[in-house]
Amino acid sequence: WVVDKVVDKMNDYPQISQAAKLLQANEVVAFPTETVYGLGANAKETEAVKKIFFAKGRPSDNPLIVHIAHRDQLEEIASDIPDVAYTLMEHFWPGPLTLIVKKKGDAISDKVTAGLPTIAVRMPAHPVALALIEKSGLPLAAPSANVSGRPSPTSAAHVLDDLKGRIAGIVDAGETGIGVESTVLDCTTKVPTILRPGGVTKEELERVIGCVEVDHALTDERQTPKSPGMKYTHYAPKSPLILVEGQPFFLQKLVDEQRANGKTVGVLTTEERQYMYEADVVLACGSRSDLHTVASHLYDTLRQFDETDVDIIYSEVFPTNGIGAAVMNRLKKAAGHQVIHEK
Ligand code: TXA
Ligand code: MG
Repeated sequence: WVVDKVVDKMNDYPQISQAAKLLQANEVVAFPTETVYGLGANAKETEAVKKIFFAKGRPSDNPLIVHIAHRDQLEEIASDIPDVAYTLMEHFWPGPLTLIVKKKGDAISDKVTAGLPTIAVRMPAHPVALALIEKSGLPLAAPSANVSGRPSPTSAAHVLDDLKGRIAGIVDAGETGIGVESTVLDCTTKVPTILRPGGVTKEELERVIGCVEVDHALTDERQTPKSPGMKYTHYAPKSPLILVEGQPFFLQKLVDEQRANGKTVGVLTTEERQYMYEADVVLACGSRSDLHTVASHLYDTLRQFDETDVDIIYSEVFPTNGIGAAVMNRLKKAAGHQVIHEK
């Protein structure tokens, strides 16, 4: 298997050996995964895990995902793993699917699970991530390597922008690829429930296991989400972001009104529509014909707006099937759920 071979080779890379040593010494190190960069620490040691929360400014009631490279590592930290979870691992691991299962004993620090009886586990599909887990010999607790609330990092430069001086190191392997985080799937409910849409789509899950539910809080803002992390404001650029449901000329009208009031206005669009707008800053985020490209550039585009002087950003919206569900979930959170509809 190709990834295995690459991982074997990578084990000897000096950057990976060095990062593994730091992790064994209970330091925090950022590393690439196929979704976003993670900020890793030894999941067994509370002292190490605390450093993650400190570096990110993350609320301590928000549990972390444990990253593993082998199935045996799962059985050391989880119990009562249902058959459906094994079926999913067979199909989607390594890959952007995080499974919530029952936690076993105290092999993993309580800080990782924020005191919950469950644990979130995933096997990332990035050769560098797998090599690092293997070389360190540790399960790695790793949230996205951004300051809490900021867009997740899809390049080493994003990590440095947020965490320079606060972490022991970073393994740079270029851009991540998928660009949005893993799908979080609760396997402790009768029917598995999506707590966070992500890299593996609902449609893909359904093709393998049939029925899948979606946490009500994802569709109804008044409900408290079951995944603690989903209740926080997230991914937000510094200027207010407003989603616009309607035709480009309607979005343009909103831009014109703001500019008439002396505001500097940004537009978040796609390659296809980039030339339809007249605004102070127009940024295209992938192509509408393939929403994977939008997912892959979304966080970088949100960060690019922070480098401009726009007072307000208007964004197009996307269909919510396939990877579009994750894209729209992140966009809505970045916009604090502000949406304007064309009448
Ligand atoms: O793609 C990803 O998943 C990235 C890369 C680095 O692997 N990681 C990531 O981690 O996105 P983080 O910490 O930013 O998001 C973890 C999410 C949060 O929404 C958290 O609340 C949820 O997983 N979570 C973790 N443990 C949980 C548990 N036991 N029950 C419910 N939700 C849990
Ligand atoms: Mg995050």
